[in-house]
Amino acid sequence: MDPHVSRETPSTPEVARRAFASDRLPLAERYAELLATDGVVRGLIGPRETPRLWDRHLVNCALLGELIPEGATVCDIGSGAGLPGLVLAIARPDLTMTLVEPLLRRTTFLEEVTADLALDHVEVVRGRADALHGARTFDVVTSRAVAPLERLLGWSMPLVSPAGALVAMKGTSVDEEIAAAADELARWGCAPPEVSLLGEDWPVSPTVALRVAWGDPSRVSWPLATSPARSGSQRQRSASRGRSTVKRRRRT
Ligand SMILES: C[S@@+](CC[C@H](N)C(=O)[O-])C[C@H]1O[C@@H](n2cnc3c(N)ncnc32)[C@H](O)[C@@H]1O
Repeated sequence: MDPHVSRETPSTPEVARRAFASDRLPLAERYAELLATDGVVRGLIGPRETPRLWDRHLVNCALLGELIPEGATVCDIGSGAGLPGLVLAIARPDLTMTLVEPLLRRTTFLEEVTADLALDHVEVVRGRADALHGARTFDVVTSRAVAPLERLLGWSMPLVSPAGALVAMKGTSVDEEIAAAADELARWGCAPPEVSLLGEDWPVSPTVALRVAWGDPSRVSWPLATSPARSGSQRQRSASRGRSTVKRRRRT
């Protein structure tokens, strides 16, 4: 370990009070502490991330909640150490959260944090996202840093309910990812992807969020195959091929 990298939990910045309601902030602080200690020791988060836990991780992930409706069922795929799933569950007790992660070391940590914080609305599932295909659907399927959109669609869309959406945190190359996924977006029958910049007026780097819904919810039926056929009830021939809508949202 780099002796210059501190494992200590960074003190709570002012922006955290904006991202988390006062009754949820102590839970966010405890999670930050667990990430900075156990999370680093167990190799779940890099030690260099500790000083920027709040702005690069907790606040950024909490901003994604702007795209999640009240009372939604949410599946966070590839949760890792709980980003963004655990942050959303901490910020939003109205959600019913399922964290899906294949690696035991990570699900053990997720279960420990869930128990420590008494997050009764969180379920941890050890497995790949595709293991739930045909068995479960959710209002929202979230992810961060799991796969390029082209592959993410195949893992996420079979879990998205007819009126639901994939909501992923992405980087600045989101437009290139959308262009590269044009064929898959059409094959899955998706509506034009929407890109939002969340937290532009916050003292953190904005969160780039990508939302992909079904083109025609009335044509979605389950179980969906992981590779949609060229013709089939769930395929929307009119789906936009890679066009995206960029929205700039401001948090009030
Ligand atoms: C780069 S990490 C990102 C973790 C976390 N989302 C974050 O942003 O810190 C990618 C995660 O996706 C998980 N993963 C890989 N393939 C997956 C799949 N098919 N279904 C669900 N999770 C998967 C990995 O185990 C890993 O924890």
